[in-house]
Amino acid sequence: MAESSSGRIDTVMHEARLFPPTAEFASKARIKSLEEYQQIWDRAAQDPEAFWDEAARSELHWFEPYTEVLRWQEPFAEWFVGGKTNASYNCLDAHLTTERADKIALIFEGEPGDQRTYTYRQLHAEVCKFANVLTAQGITTGDVVSIYMPMVPELVIAMLACARIGAVHSVIFGGFSAEAIADRNHDASAKLQITADGGWRRGKQLALKQTVDQALEKSPTVTKCIVLKRVGNEVSMQAGRDFWWHELMEAASADCPATPLDSENSLFILYTSGSTGKPKGIRHTTAGYNLYAKKTFEWVFDHRDDDIYWCTADCGWITGHSYVVYGPLSAGATVLIYEGAPNHPAEDRFWDLIERHKVTILYTAPTAIRAFIKWGDDHVKKHDLSTLRLLGTVGEGINPEAWMWYHRMIGAERCPIVDTWWQTETGGIMMSPLPGAIPTKPGSCTKPLPGIIPDIVDHSGNSVDANQGGWLVITHPWPGMLRGIWGDDKRYQEQYWSKVPGKYLAGDNARRDDDGYYWIMGRIDDVLNVSGHRLSTIEIESALVSHPAVAEAAAVGRPDDLKGEAIAVFVTLKGVEPTDALRNDLKQHVRKEIGALAQPDDIRFTNALPKTRSGKIMRRLLRDIAAGRQTVGDTTTLEDYSVLASLQHEE
Ligand code: PRX
Repeated sequence: MAESSSGRIDTVMHEARLFPPTAEFASKARIKSLEEYQQIWDRAAQDPEAFWDEAARSELHWFEPYTEVLRWQEPFAEWFVGGKTNASYNCLDAHLTTERADKIALIFEGEPGDQRTYTYRQLHAEVCKFANVLTAQGITTGDVVSIYMPMVPELVIAMLACARIGAVHSVIFGGFSAEAIADRNHDASAKLQITADGGWRRGKQLALKQTVDQALEKSPTVTKCIVLKRVGNEVSMQAGRDFWWHELMEAASADCPATPLDSENSLFILYTSGSTGKPKGIRHTTAGYNLYAKKTFEWVFDHRDDDIYWCTADCGWITGHSYVVYGPLSAGATVLIYEGAPNHPAEDRFWDLIERHKVTILYTAPTAIRAFIKWGDDHVKKHDLSTLRLLGTVGEGINPEAWMWYHRMIGAERCPIVDTWWQTETGGIMMSPLPGAIPTKPGSCTKPLPGIIPDIVDHSGNSVDANQGGWLVITHPWPGMLRGIWGDDKRYQEQYWSKVPGKYLAGDNARRDDDGYYWIMGRIDDVLNVSGHRLSTIEIESALVSHPAVAEAAAVGRPDDLKGEAIAVFVTLKGVEPTDALRNDLKQHVRKEIGALAQPDDIRFTNALPKTRSGKIMRRLLRDIAAGRQTVGDTTTLEDYSVLASLQHEE
């Protein structure tokens, strides 16, 4: 893609609405005002090591104290050097000597409606037993365990059991193919596989074990497989390799002290698709990650002991690692997990879950919110959502009109919304409103958390002015940062640390407004270059979503002789008929909202947009379609191939 040399991006968005926290919310919050936030942030920025040192001492259990807070040899960081801790201990044992011992840690609801709860004491016992099972299968500190399971409590138990003995988990989302599992198992040299006979999704059984059987044919390093009985279907069990979870657990002891582990012991690998080619195994380690997940959970969700917290992410993603497991459990929260789809048996399942379980905090993704908008308000209105006090979003930018719907329809204009910007690589939330302190603006992730020092730079690495878009970088190491790409230091260095020397390159464009608020503008590779102006995808998309007929939109550039690139948009509608009149109306609407420059050249209506399995719009594939290219790029992370096929076969 052609780029201007400065790398600056033009903003066309004019969002001026401001929502301060209510006095009621602020008075009970951990951080109660903008001034208080600013004081903490300033103190952390002056001396980040001292700030994190203080936090690590009070927040984690240390079997042995560390001797150095940060050892930084760019781009390689070690945090809390020489210390020994254990993430499973911090999530479980730490609560057993407190009044939280018999507090509910997990509330589980399966898609068919089955329910189970675990107190911290019960979860601890299960984790200890499964840790003993893993040890008996020959797993020890440093071994990689591959996990391919539905979203059930045993997935959390498996992760924490690995953490307990220092084994490194690699969770692979239950929607991935046999090929994807085999690639990841191979890259990580995984020794053992954990899976289930199946899982429930939209009333159907996912044949997880069958997929694993195919994957293991191509995973020579994996010699053992433990299978949880979840759906009760017939599966083939290979003698000597495959073992039933319940049979191994029957014989296991619940006595398993947590192994004191080096701060920098690998806690997990999580594969994330790069923009091209082979997935990267993002490596996170024990102490820094655990501390960061815990602190950010407490700050951003303003956790209180009586909260019922629901993060709808699957543990196959980083959000599930940090904000279903390690953050909330270290903080002693009660966490709801749900196995199935949001529209099974009907489109009100989420609201039904919130009403019945009295959820107080909901953390979900913009893609889900846009689906709820499309399904209609009636599903929401059937339910009492008055227990909710805080809402969050993650994974993509949220269009301001979708934010407003979330605010009005789900939050009843009462609940603050935390729009959290972060990445698999960052380990935890980097920028977000602190809900009692920072007034929100729809579509902005607002300000950096304490200890995080971002900047926006041009292609020469110089900071740009307010309201200029540029590359988002982080200027100082933080405890939750990735420690590298598994087995590929060179790619780690090149991808994150080479374009802007000394700074972490996030790969997103952003701008900072006059109030110091950050606005994410989309991935660097997705910028549109129209007549010499570089435009952000989200701004054009948000203008479209502000039209009453539009549910969802994706904007991409396609080659144009005159303008360099023309703007092509793909639009899904809220149940109205696609017509030429509507197409013209949408063009005029964008022109009116953000200007003639950003007026789309082509508008294509579609029933659905191609998305990754975690719900992100795959603009890269849409670029190929808009340009009329026959063969599109790598589609292995595509969630529903038929969406792409139907786009390709349309006129
Ligand atoms: O482009 C940003 C977008 O998601 C990317 C990170 O994706 P992943 O590693 O899958 O992690 C998702 C869960 C943390 C970012 O580089 N992104 C994530 N959150 C936001 C966002 N874009 C805008 N606003 C957000 N709140």
